[in-house]
Amino acid sequence: MRRINRDEQALIKLTLNGTPVAARAEPRLLFSDFLRHQLGATGTHVGCEHGVCGCCTVMVDGVATRSCLMLAVQAEGREVRTVEALAGPELELNDLQRAFRENHALQCGFCTPGILMSFTDYLARENADVSAEAVRDVLGGHICRCTGYQGIVDAIVETAKGSMTP
Ligand code: FES
Ligand code: FES
Repeated sequence: MRRINRDEQALIKLTLNGTPVAARAEPRLLFSDFLRHQLGATGTHVGCEHGVCGCCTVMVDGVATRSCLMLAVQAEGREVRTVEALAGPELELNDLQRAFRENHALQCGFCTPGILMSFTDYLARENADVSAEAVRDVLGGHICRCTGYQGIVDAIVETAKGSMTP
């Protein structure tokens, strides 16, 4: 494997929300910053930058992943979905997004993209426990400063009981 100098820009190619993309980044650049600044996927938010708040969560090869805990170079060849992928072609909200709106599950919305991506993964899992208790357990990986969490739990449980569009 060729070693790259810390200031050298590596060309990183990946699939973002179904579209092949490529951009250059220094080897030390976080994937969260790469998504926002190089690829313009600003729906992915950045809070703590050390894996605690969850707002930078995206899906990498189908698995919810904290993009601040990855380097951009580790995304080479991966299939990445961000919150921008959830709405339909006419920007119609999917079931989970609609449930958030209807249950007052967001206020400032800063935490919302990460929570949506975590539960897009969780609700798509076979035999996922969608009791309020289990949802609260998964939600423990996200910090929301506004809602008190009850509306978020209600939105997720309601989506799980209906037919979710991932
Ligand atoms: S910004 Fe990634 S977990 Fe907080
Ligand atoms: S809605 Fe404001 S941080 Fe969660």
